[in-house]
This record gives sequence, C-alpha cells and structure tokens, in this order.
Amino acid sequence: MTQVIYVLNGPNLNLLGQREPGIYGATTLEDIKALCLSKAEELGLSIEFLQSNHEGQLVDWIQEAGQRAAGIVFNPAAYSHTSVALQDAIRAVQLPVMEVHLSNIHARESFRHHSFIAPVAKGVICGLGPYGYVVAIEALANYLKQAAKA
Ligand code: DQA
Repeated sequence: MTQVIYVLNGPNLNLLGQREPGIYGATTLEDIKALCLSKAEELGLSIEFLQSNHEGQLVDWIQEAGQRAAGIVFNPAAYSHTSVALQDAIRAVQLPVMEVHLSNIHARESFRHHSFIAPVAKGVICGLGPYGYVVAIEALANYLKQAAKA
C-alpha cells in the first residue's frame, strides 16, 4: 500500500511569494506543493499538503497523521519557536518528523535559534529554500526504508 506523508505548514506560509521576498524568495506555497508532489510521485509516496495559521489545527493534523501517515515533513514557521503543544503532539503520535525551514534560522534573530520541534524531529533542514522540502521528503523516504529493514 502507498505510504502517506503529511507535509504541514504553519502560520503565514500561505503568504509566500509576497511575504518578505528578500528572506523567503518569490516561490509560492502552491509552487512548493507542486515540488513536493513531483518528488513524492518519483518515490512512490502519497502526499497530504496542508497549511494553517492556527496552532490547534496543526495539532489536529498531527494527530490525524498519527492514524494514517508514515511520517511528517513539518515547517511549523513561527510556532517552531513557541509551541510546546506541537512538540507534545509529535511525542504523542511517535511518527518520524523532518523539520524544514526555508531560511537559515541560525543566521537570523536569536529568538529563531531555538526550536521546540527540533528535539523531537529525526532531522532538521534549514536555509535551502523550497528545495529543503524536497530534501526532507527524500530523507523521510530513506528513513522509512531503513526502518522497514530493521
Ligand atoms: C520559517 C522561519 C521561522 O522563523 C519564521 O517564523 C517563519 C518561516 C522558515 O521557513 O524559514 O514563518 O519557518
């Protein structure tokens, strides 16, 4: 059966393309979705690509992924730096998570250097722009393949 990967996007990522283009570039979230779908097709995976500005909605989707997905690629956006609830949700479902940030959060303001998601993620990819999502899907596919062998 085809494995499902949830690609979750947090607040303000719906504005990609218009939002601070000097930091986030001109690529829209729809463009990123297309990149993810094409990589998933190549790898034989199915993608559920979602965005919300609301923390509770992201918690609900993580819980839903726990019921039907093999893993999560997650750009929690600003909630990365604030959300115990999202960390708890990931701990609860015990799915492999690859955290993604378009920008290099370590080269920005110090409040972005800490992530509540990183300690419960299998990997963290930042600073690669939209390509980071492609890397994250590949890394997750590789992780799932290794885990199936073990
Ligand atoms: C972001 C980095 C976060 O610090 C910021 O709040 C975002 C986007 C990124 O993709 O670079 O909204 O997650």
